[in-house]
Amino acid sequence: MVSSAGNRAAPIGIFDSGLGGLTVAHAIMRQLPAESLVYFGDTARVPYGPKSPDTVRRYSHEIAAYLLEQGVKAIVVACNTATAHALPMLERELDVPVIGVVEPGARAAVRASRSGRIGVIATAGTIKSGAYVRAIHAEAPDARVTARACPLFVPLVEEGWINHDATWSVAQEYLAPFVHDEVDTLVLGCTHYPLLKPLIGEIIGRDVRLIDSAEETALDTQRMLAEHSLAATSGEGTYRFVASDDQQQFLALGQRFFGDTIERVEIRTFG
Ligand code: DGL
Repeated sequence: MVSSAGNRAAPIGIFDSGLGGLTVAHAIMRQLPAESLVYFGDTARVPYGPKSPDTVRRYSHEIAAYLLEQGVKAIVVACNTATAHALPMLERELDVPVIGVVEPGARAAVRASRSGRIGVIATAGTIKSGAYVRAIHAEAPDARVTARACPLFVPLVEEGWINHDATWSVAQEYLAPFVHDEVDTLVLGCTHYPLLKPLIGEIIGRDVRLIDSAEETALDTQRMLAEHSLAATSGEGTYRFVASDDQQQFLALGQRFFGDTIERVEIRTFG
C-alpha cells in the first residue's frame, strides 16, 4: 500500500458506510480548519448494520486501501459498525494512525454520567459486537450499561422521517428499556441517530444526556495528529467527497448530515 505517513500536508481519510459519517467530517472541519479531508461513503453497500463482521471487515479493508492510494496521513473510521468490527484489524494492518468513533463516544458518556447508568443504542452489528459495553467498562468498570439495537432508525432517518408518527412509535418501543432502567446518559452509537436527538430527548426525558461522538472524535483526531507530529501547520484544508454509488443521491441527502452544501462527488466502485 502507498502511504503518506509523516506528511503533515497530506489529507485525513474518513470513511463511513454511507452519508452519516459526514457529521464526523463536519466536526473535524470545524475543529481543524487547516486539515484537508478525503471522505468516502460506501453508498453502494450501505447499510453495514445488519451485515456480518467478516463482510464489514472486508469492506473496511478495501476502503482503507483506497484511501491510502489517495495519499492520506491518517484514517478516521466514522462508522460505528465498521469501528466495532474492523478497528483492531485496521490498526494492525495500516502504517498510518487510525481512530474510530466508539472509544470517544464511550469516554464522553462516562464523563457525562453521574449515576453510572448508561444506555447505548446502535445498529444490530455494533450491539452484537459488545464494543461499546467493553469501551465503557474500560473507563468505568462499575457502570451499569443497557444496550439495544435500533435497526429501524437508519431507514427512517434516510427517508427524512425525523419527526414522523411512525418514528415516534418505533422510538417509544425501542427506548422503553432505557426509561425503565433510569439511564442518565444515552450514547447515540450510530451515525444516523443524532438527527433524531429532539425526538429521542422528548421520549427518554430531557434530563438524560445524549452523547453524539462526532465532536469527541474530532478532538481525538486532533490529539492523534499532534502525537504523531502530523497536524497541518498552516493554510485552509481542501475537501474531496467520494461515493461508491450515484452522485445525485449523495448530493441530495448529504446535506442533511453535513449541514452544508456539497458541490462535487467523485465515484469509486469496488468489486
Ligand atoms: N454508519 C452506520 C453506523 O454508524 C449506520 C448505517 C449502516 O447500518 O450502515 O453504524
